[in-house]
Amino acid sequence: MPKVLAQGKTIECKVGANLRKVLLQNHIDLYNGGALVINCRGIGSCGTCAVLVEGEVNEPNWRDKTRCSLPPHSPGNNLRLACQTQVLGDLKVTKYDGFWGQNPQIVWTSEG
Ligand code: FES
Repeated sequence: MPKVLAQGKTIECKVGANLRKVLLQNHIDLYNGGALVINCRGIGSCGTCAVLVEGEVNEPNWRDKTRCSLPPHSPGNNLRLACQTQVLGDLKVTKYDGFWGQNPQIVWTSEG
């Protein structure tokens, strides 16, 4: 079972689990501020579930690539949409500041 490290928690999940669901079900603060209420519920259009992932995940799909290339995100920021990410192995997750998680300041890391 892969282990997801996020906000100081270690969460075990099935191979192929949806990262957004894994984080929310384990009370990780995936969304910043009002984005907790105003988000697309996982269809890959709002961009507020963006996180940095280190570990084994699926290749970015077209929704992930498209949304992460549009402002306030930008191509090359290396963020992924949690809602479009499948956990394939052990993973470390980092959340950045800003409504979309697009700013350079860290909100939380895998360690807390
Ligand atoms: S929840 Fe909206 S893009 Fe992931």
